[in-house]
Amino acid sequence: MNDATRGTGGPGDGTRAVRAGLPEPVKHEPTLPGPVFAAHFHLPGDPTGPYTYGRDENPTWTLLERAIGELEAPGRDDVETLVFASGMAAISAVLFSQLRAGDAVVLPDDGYQALPLARAQLEAYGIEVRTAPTGGDAQLEVLDGAKLLWIETPSNPGLDVCDVRRLAEAAHARGALVAVDNTLATPLGQRPLELGADFAVASGTKQLTGHGDVLLGYVTGRDAEAMAAVRRWRKITGAIPGPMEAWLAHRSIATLQLRVERQNATAMRLAEALRERPEVTGLRYPGLPDDPSHKIASQQMRRYGCVVSFTLPSRERADGFLEALRLVDDATSFGGVRSTAERRGRWGGDAVPEGFVRFSVGAEDPEDLIADVLRALDVTAG
Ligand SMILES: Cc1ncc(COP(=O)(O)O)c(C=O)c1O
Repeated sequence: MNDATRGTGGPGDGTRAVRAGLPEPVKHEPTLPGPVFAAHFHLPGDPTGPYTYGRDENPTWTLLERAIGELEAPGRDDVETLVFASGMAAISAVLFSQLRAGDAVVLPDDGYQALPLARAQLEAYGIEVRTAPTGGDAQLEVLDGAKLLWIETPSNPGLDVCDVRRLAEAAHARGALVAVDNTLATPLGQRPLELGADFAVASGTKQLTGHGDVLLGYVTGRDAEAMAAVRRWRKITGAIPGPMEAWLAHRSIATLQLRVERQNATAMRLAEALRERPEVTGLRYPGLPDDPSHKIASQQMRRYGCVVSFTLPSRERADGFLEALRLVDDATSFGGVRSTAERRGRWGGDAVPEGFVRFSVGAEDPEDLIADVLRALDVTAG
């Protein structure tokens, strides 16, 4: 992946990640200034920015927003990034700031499990919601007259992939805006704005921050008017990250390239090991050459993520497997340095078989992790 990491030229991803968003060096000041805890800022006279009130702006967010923008859209000055309290806060900000009663929106029917809740709320506000599965670019069938196309690729938890460039062209030809949930790929795996999207939206709670200790979301967009509405929505709802979370996130981004390289390479090895197991069906990892997502993924992704999905023969087998794992926590979420896995059906929100396991590969030594998985499969075989 070394060439791929260079993307559109300039420094490699590791170099960009460690320096992302840093201010110009100032003698006797730290490299990354600490969190600024402030509800209000000194403001004599006319109330002009940049910093007036802590719900509107904060210097710690500014640096983080710069960092994320540099990774999502390297070399571009025409994009803006806004950080939020969580991924859902960011998603809601785009949906509810862009859509009005009478508008139509296309959502995935196999995306993150809180999307149906957003759907119900949109419908309650008089917005028409159409859905389409992620794979096979099925969104094309329901685009006519839509104001916004929402894509989640790869989808969580099914790991289907759609062709962002093709869908963005079709949506723009019909006057619709396009938002891509980039949570699973991270900006080092996929850059939606370069593929034609208007917004890259993500939960920074996952691999972007990667330690399972921060909730965060962001929106990066290139349409100034649309982003002004997203900013206004953040102000209205107050869905802002705390300065400490924002600072932790920025600090974590310095190791993003190291983490994704390690975790994603191990995910590939785990997928290859699982492919050899007779009790594993429905194995999905977009990096596997024979995965149904691989062709499109290899055209638009630079890395394939740290999540592997598969199905064990029964609910009992999956529960036993998860309990037998020693290096993997049975927990939801994904993207952290410590591997986690869960039987996704336990939530009831995803259309998955009872034995479906979503496995998030961490930064453990690959040999140790794979040995643990194979042992847990063996001890639950009989
Ligand atoms: C693809 C995707 N988008 C958005 C979210 C929501 O993010 P958060 O939990 O930070 O609100 C999640 C959470 O799992 C997710 O998987």
